[in-house]
Amino acid sequence: MFCQLGDCNKQNCHHCFPIINCKKHDICIEKGCCHEYNGCIMVTGSCGFIGRHVCEKFLNNNYSVIGIDNLNNFIYDSSFKIKNKEILSKYEKYQHYTNDFTDEDFIKKFKPEIIIHLAAYANVRKSNSYPYEYVKNNMENTCRLLEFLKNSKNINYNPLFLYASSSSVYGNNKKVPFCEDDELNNLTSLYALSKKSCEEMINIYCNNYKLKAIGFRFFTVYGPGCRPDMAIHNFLKNIYQEKEVIIYGDGTMKRDFTFVNDIVNGIYNSTLIKIEEGTNKIYNLGNNTPISVSELINVCSEVVGKKPIIKYSDIPLGDVKITYANIDKSKKEINYNPNTPIQEGLNKTFQYLKENLL
Ligand code: UGA
Repeated sequence: MFCQLGDCNKQNCHHCFPIINCKKHDICIEKGCCHEYNGCIMVTGSCGFIGRHVCEKFLNNNYSVIGIDNLNNFIYDSSFKIKNKEILSKYEKYQHYTNDFTDEDFIKKFKPEIIIHLAAYANVRKSNSYPYEYVKNNMENTCRLLEFLKNSKNINYNPLFLYASSSSVYGNNKKVPFCEDDELNNLTSLYALSKKSCEEMINIYCNNYKLKAIGFRFFTVYGPGCRPDMAIHNFLKNIYQEKEVIIYGDGTMKRDFTFVNDIVNGIYNSTLIKIEEGTNKIYNLGNNTPISVSELINVCSEVVGKKPIIKYSDIPLGDVKITYANIDKSKKEINYNPNTPIQEGLNKTFQYLKENLL
């Protein structure tokens, strides 16, 4: 019998029987969805770009979602997050808390069976200008959550802990594509350091206190509502408005741009596998098809239907030449299957941008 909490011996516990939309276990396929099943997850950073899509995926699969987001505007204008909050608040099963996520009593009250920790300061380049802020926000807050989970073992509460890591942990890795077990000796930014440190911190807590965790190394995620500080948002917007787009370097830097729905499906599927206590599994969630920034601009230009006005600028500190995910492990173990070509993903991203923000 499969059990999400891992501590159940009952035949018909609603945590485990049957799992909604589960295609993995014969019993779930045979019995379908249990009406009384009412899974509850908590998402930190729920109103960020990836957070909102993750919440919607679980809400559409009948979960209750507790969303925590302090709606800060450190990385980008908080109006984007407020819009996401409005979108999520239309779902009956979404409860929003504008808060830091470090309040233990709060988690104890809801006891979500899955915690998805996405809240963080993002943006590789910006991190080198604000080292203290990134270290404090990303590492200290993750540590607080882990301390809470450690203490919760005393009350027999040990939820599945999913968290966002980043392709930037590979830094200037010479070997491509990047594999999960590559050594991480080539970091170029404080952001990457904060993410690598979080992975290691989580390893320590999983080993010492038998927590259950899955970390996702995201590769330049884009899609409808993507962060306004990222290249794709700015390229589409500026080409449409006939303003300059800035290319760092000569346009040959490559990224493994990955569509948000593919990422979200991977996260969702990972909750359907059994995770042993004391493990911190790491998975690349990338596209396995890197393209150069110049190629990206060409596709953006086709999608928008206008020619770009290009200006070249120096490569900022922290940017790496290429990101490129090996996704064999994610495909095999969590049924991850990215299948959105860049043209299609950019079309969807541009439609959303036009309808909502321009
Ligand atoms: C992205 C996210 O912003 C990070 O939060 C995330 O952690 C990271 O992916 C990841 O994969 O983990 P990045 O790849 O730098 O980081 O994404 P963009 O800011 O969209 O930049 C993509 C490429 O476009 C880079 O090569 C960058 O140098 C280039 N770029 C960006 C330009 O040439 N011009 C711009 O105006 C902006």
